[in-house]
Amino acid sequence: PAELAHNWFVGSIDQGTTSSRFLIFNGAGDPVAMHQLEFENLYPKSGWHEQDPLALLRSVEECIEGCVKKFEEKGGDRKRIKAVGITNQRETTVVWDKETGEPLGNAVVWPDTRTTALVRELKEREGAGELLELCGLPLSTYPSSVKLLWLLQNDEGVKRAYDEGRLAFGTVDSWLIYRLNGGAEAERQVHVTDGTNASRTMFMNLRTLQYDEKLLNFFGIDQGKIQLPQIVPSSDTEAFGKIASGALAGVPITGCLGDQSSALVGQCGFSPGQAKNTYGTGCFLLYNVGTEPVISKNGLLATVAYDFGKGRKPVYALEGSIAVAGSGVKFLVDNLGFVEDPSRVSELAESVEDSAGLVFVTAFSGLFAPYWIDDAQGTLFGMTQYTTKAHIARATLEATCFQTRAILKAMEEDSGHKLERIAVDGGLSNSDVCMQAQADIAQIPVDRPAMRETTALGAAVAAGLAVGVWNELEELNDVNKVGRRMFMPKMPKQKAENMFQKWNQAVEMSRGWVRE
Ligand code: G3P
Repeated sequence: PAELAHNWFVGSIDQGTTSSRFLIFNGAGDPVAMHQLEFENLYPKSGWHEQDPLALLRSVEECIEGCVKKFEEKGGDRKRIKAVGITNQRETTVVWDKETGEPLGNAVVWPDTRTTALVRELKEREGAGELLELCGLPLSTYPSSVKLLWLLQNDEGVKRAYDEGRLAFGTVDSWLIYRLNGGAEAERQVHVTDGTNASRTMFMNLRTLQYDEKLLNFFGIDQGKIQLPQIVPSSDTEAFGKIASGALAGVPITGCLGDQSSALVGQCGFSPGQAKNTYGTGCFLLYNVGTEPVISKNGLLATVAYDFGKGRKPVYALEGSIAVAGSGVKFLVDNLGFVEDPSRVSELAESVEDSAGLVFVTAFSGLFAPYWIDDAQGTLFGMTQYTTKAHIARATLEATCFQTRAILKAMEEDSGHKLERIAVDGGLSNSDVCMQAQADIAQIPVDRPAMRETTALGAAVAAGLAVGVWNELEELNDVNKVGRRMFMPKMPKQKAENMFQKWNQAVEMSRGWVRE
């Protein structure tokens, strides 16, 4: 308690696809309090995925209140919370009226595939071939640009606001920062984003870290009609403003990172060649490539890892994005009623030795890296009378592991360097059976830290660096080193190879379903 009352602390908002949380970290990088809330995800049509921007905001505000209460019950003092960082689900697109500060409809969430036909059209447009080199992302249903374009073409209210010059666009970081600062009522309206989030829109030039006319023109975005967030460094004392009301009124927001970048920071992946794989709603492998971006030739994304400003050069990553990981497990529970709770899926999978030849291509949003097959559908191969729920549960976990293997192969080809191990985190990394399957299928040691709130820690680090809780990244080298567990590959190499071949065959057979 004495420690809680006297030292400095940093808060971290972690706004993910399935839940929001707020954590308070001490100067050693340990979480001392946390509060988490789920909110509703909406699937109004097949392939559509939405969230209510106000519900996201409310969940964040309630998490802050709940966490500060727990912190103080333990003897903490809210005045010792020096700054707050924010980390968020990326690409999810929010539009609001800049005059009222109110959303103009639901957010279009990153795995949403309503843009499949639009993307097909865009791929034919002149200049499509130059986009990857400029922004690091291939054209697909995934980035914010196509979601915004879809709204501009199909949503009357959004179109009108654009024509009347009232439209504001942002990813979830921008939206939350804007409203936490007081929104349209605030004396200083804060509409910003950082390079890690902006690098997911397709509007930002990867080298200048600013909006690129060529990119905006390609998508037909007229900056005179829409307010885009200003792109600022991920760690800054002024740019993100401060929390306007509630338990932490007056506390500055000084860090902002997209959640996957944040997890890399939270795993202390500060050197080129270091990588992490986060098993959240989706699963995302980020590989630090240093201060020059590497444009992938093998279906990976080039993205900003972090940009800590103050004369430091931005650091880039190669990314392998998998659309379905934890959401596959949730699907077994919510849609198919396999077990009561997602945490039981792992037990179910563990009750059988293997998937008995079953392969589940969990392509609910098409397939992302390294395949980029927009028209792939979720497909189960190899069912017999012998197949049980347990085999399907196991095949669901293995689907993420196979895609990780495919991404590791692409990374090796792009970087000319073979990874010796992968550091993991995120909800599904709690599953021993999933992590062992990962080590076996990818034939690579899997290194799991004891403290798995690494995504939240990354944003706290970005915020803490701005206000002097930490001054240099080296000060974080000892964070989270104790109690790690290594999962070593136990499966014979040839068996893993055969399974991976089967998987790739299944991927080929899952393509070609045209969505209505
Ligand atoms: O790109 C989407 C990603 O940022 C979502 O992360 O952890 O909610 O699956 P997560």
